[in-house]
Amino acid sequence: MLGSLILLWIGFSLLFLLFRTRRPNNFPPGPRPIPIFGNLLQLNLVDLLNDFKKLSERYGKVYSIYIGRMPAVVLNGVQVMKEALATQAVVFAGRPQDLMINHLVEGTGVVLTTGPIWKEHRRFALITLRNFGLGKRSMEERILGEISYITSHLEKNAGKAIEPQILFHKVAFNIICCVLFGTRFKHEDEFLQLNIRLFEENAKIFNGPWAMIYDMLPLLRHLPLPFQKVFQNGNKMRKSLGEQVSQHKKSRVPGEPRGLTDCYLDEMEKRGDDDSSFNEKQLIGFLLDLLFAGTDTTSNTLLFAFLHLMTHPDVQGRCQKEIDEVLGEKEQASFEDRHMMPYTQAMIHEAQRVADTVPLNVFHATTKDTRLMGYDIPKGTLIIPNLSSVLNEESQWKFPHDFNPSNFLNDQGEFVKPEAFMPFSAGPRMCLGEGLARMELFLILVTLLRRFKFVWPDDAGVPDYTPIFGITQRPKPYRLGVRLRL
Ligand code: HEM
Ligand SMILES: *[C@@H]1O[C@H](CO)[C@@H](O)[C@H](O)[C@H]1NC(C)=O
Repeated sequence: MLGSLILLWIGFSLLFLLFRTRRPNNFPPGPRPIPIFGNLLQLNLVDLLNDFKKLSERYGKVYSIYIGRMPAVVLNGVQVMKEALATQAVVFAGRPQDLMINHLVEGTGVVLTTGPIWKEHRRFALITLRNFGLGKRSMEERILGEISYITSHLEKNAGKAIEPQILFHKVAFNIICCVLFGTRFKHEDEFLQLNIRLFEENAKIFNGPWAMIYDMLPLLRHLPLPFQKVFQNGNKMRKSLGEQVSQHKKSRVPGEPRGLTDCYLDEMEKRGDDDSSFNEKQLIGFLLDLLFAGTDTTSNTLLFAFLHLMTHPDVQGRCQKEIDEVLGEKEQASFEDRHMMPYTQAMIHEAQRVADTVPLNVFHATTKDTRLMGYDIPKGTLIIPNLSSVLNEESQWKFPHDFNPSNFLNDQGEFVKPEAFMPFSAGPRMCLGEGLARMELFLILVTLLRRFKFVWPDDAGVPDYTPIFGITQRPKPYRLGVRLRL
């Protein structure tokens, strides 16, 4: 009797859940979800990417999957992407709010917030980045200063092969630190090492099954499962950034900011205590966001660029010839020089295209009920804008599957940027560090290519370009062969 009651109860619960996971009317098509797990059990977790590819082939450019109880709409191709992120900009500029990543940032920062907190912090970030010399000379000098540390490391290792991963990571981290704090950190510094390590640990968990389980099964969230580590690491990072902020509060001279942190403290003072979204907790979340949005992305892009440059010596040689001609006797490259270097510009954009650094973008959400490509999508639906599908779209590129700078050159050899070039996304959520990132990529690549030749080590076997999939992708670890040019 009890047994059949329990069975009945389970049956009802399942029916109830099945009811809950029924697609809304005229929702984009997709595979039928199973209660609780959504579509995740139907997907082969080992070959997720291939499964997704099959789904988009079967269901088209706009399709839906269920992540647990949560319906998600995947957007593929440049046409759909523009329609959603640009034309319906405000409607598609939301962020999902109940995922592990939201609980990690506790409603602070800019990447995952919405409403006034997001708007004000985004604006503040853009203005401050501009004031700290994007476009002006000083930002360039800071980046070039940081590059001198890579150069001397590579000079010491000329004739050998080095592992570039950690080096690039630290360089990207330090460039953001210059913006945030007005200082860089030694590569052995505790603050730098701790934060890079904690971030790597968290990235691993986010890219693995425990994040999925957390997002799918809210009932398990408070259990002592491996995902708790993410939150412990988050607290450690906040603590170490809190210490930076305290030091800045002690040593600052109001009105004479050394970096974004001082500007923020000035702004807090100016606004006073009324219900402003500028406070110390927000500041720490904001710093964390900027630090991590700008580190992995930039360094992983560099890793792909050097992998392809090593294995395409013809492309490398053409860039070097152009760089030598344009720079002549000049001591250092400047960002302005890019206008004279169409081929090198094309190479850098091509590296970004094939690097496909943030393949599924940062997830968006709809802010109201809407209609896209004839389908109805309710308010609050999770949106996955597949940037990878745009950067690799066959109809948009001359050589979609190769590494070939010609993708960004016209018949006259001039640099052109096709509209499907969207590694920074599009619309009101578009990467706010684009200007900084482009300046970094240009100055780093040009400076290093001018001084060194990069060769694929003889004993390294056949190069493997397959990325390690994740929120941000990177190539498999490789060694960078370094030779002096001059
Ligand atoms: C090659 C390097 C980079 C790439 C490929 C990249 C890519 C992206 C992408 C795809 C997004 C999500 C856009 C969306 O949700 O539609 C994003 C957002 C963001 N990025 Fe970047 N990014 C890079 C470098 C940087 C740097 C250097 C910074 C630091 C200043 C930065 C700060 C941010 C922030 C704060 C956001 C959140 C914007 C918002 O939600 O309003 N990024 N980035
Ligand atoms: C995104 O696009 C790429 C390239 O077209 C495809 O291989 C991948 O499966 C797509 N991902 C999803 C989630 O649809």
